[in-house]
Amino acid sequence: MLLSSRASLQGQPHSFCMASTGGGHSTTVASSDAAVSNNPAEADDDLDLNGFTNDSAMMIAYERDLETQRPDALFRDPCARVLQGRKGEALSTQFGQLCSHFNLEAWPEFHKMWTAARTRFIDDQIDAAAPGVRQLVNLGAGFDTRNYRLQSYKGLEAVFDVDMQVINDSKATILPKLGLEPFCSKVTSVSLDFLDQEKTLKTELPKHGFDLQKPSIFIAEGLIQYLGAGANKFLGDVCEVARCVGSVFVLNFLDASALEAWSTEDAKHMTLTESRVRAALLGHDDDKSDAVWDLQFFKFGEEALDYGRFDKRFPPSPLFSFVVAKRIRRSSAT
Ligand SMILES: C[S@@+](CC[C@H](N)C(=O)[O-])C[C@H]1O[C@@H](n2cnc3c(N)ncnc32)[C@H](O)[C@@H]1O
Repeated sequence: MLLSSRASLQGQPHSFCMASTGGGHSTTVASSDAAVSNNPAEADDDLDLNGFTNDSAMMIAYERDLETQRPDALFRDPCARVLQGRKGEALSTQFGQLCSHFNLEAWPEFHKMWTAARTRFIDDQIDAAAPGVRQLVNLGAGFDTRNYRLQSYKGLEAVFDVDMQVINDSKATILPKLGLEPFCSKVTSVSLDFLDQEKTLKTELPKHGFDLQKPSIFIAEGLIQYLGAGANKFLGDVCEVARCVGSVFVLNFLDASALEAWSTEDAKHMTLTESRVRAALLGHDDDKSDAVWDLQFFKFGEEALDYGRFDKRFPPSPLFSFVVAKRIRRSSAT
């Protein structure tokens, strides 16, 4: 089996369902905030991260911490040290062993490098869009910590973090303990299961103060692979709340269309193709609206999504893809 079964994914939505092992280390971190412990084991005890079994979040936090420690770091994440818990390092090492499944033989660092590049790519998209948008909606936000590190959040009127209730509850307990000041102080957690058949972003976001008439940026990082057949509904729901000219949608997805090994039912469930994403987004364009989507696709290893972190032995990898969709005025569409 390539990565995990659908059943496991449903039980544990944040993880590629790797076996959990012990781990943890103690090194120095380039964090400016004294409230963040330098020892993940201590931090883990303080914050009870083990009670909150979010393996993927811990693995990604470990990988962001590694990047933070590099002299040429693409970003510095002051929360990554703490959020990796005891398991982050071991999970990341284990995941690296799967490199051949991603057609990246003998490159066990691939996911660490991808985490660094994808984090910076989204940072750059937010920085570029921020002057033109008023609200940011983070879809499947998990423990995203950009509001503590990106100055461009200062100009936003409101941030909406959308995730499962259980994640939002844990976050409400854990993040305040980090003692960091957010750049945008108006942050609202919205609890929503994107697979819910009745509730949608359009029914839930306005209840929490989201203004449908204001240009907004929507981020979906490391989310859509967990939605399976619900991916199309999700993309349609995003289109409904991102109708304003000037809105931007940044979606990270796995495109496995060219990979035989990813043609199993399990793997197909987690992947999309560029043409499926294109059809799903453009299929929701409304003839009566003056705003239409303009789409740009990116693959890890291409110039705009490389950041010096891709191993040039390989061609750019569609398994690590992004679409950046911008709502432009119909008349300016080419
Ligand atoms: C791998 S984490 C990514 C977190 C964050 N975006 C990041 O990159 O650091 C995936 C997130 O998607 C959320 N998620 C998965 N399935 C979901 C669903 N059906 N509805 C709402 N959130 C979901 C999980 O709870 C989790 O927080």
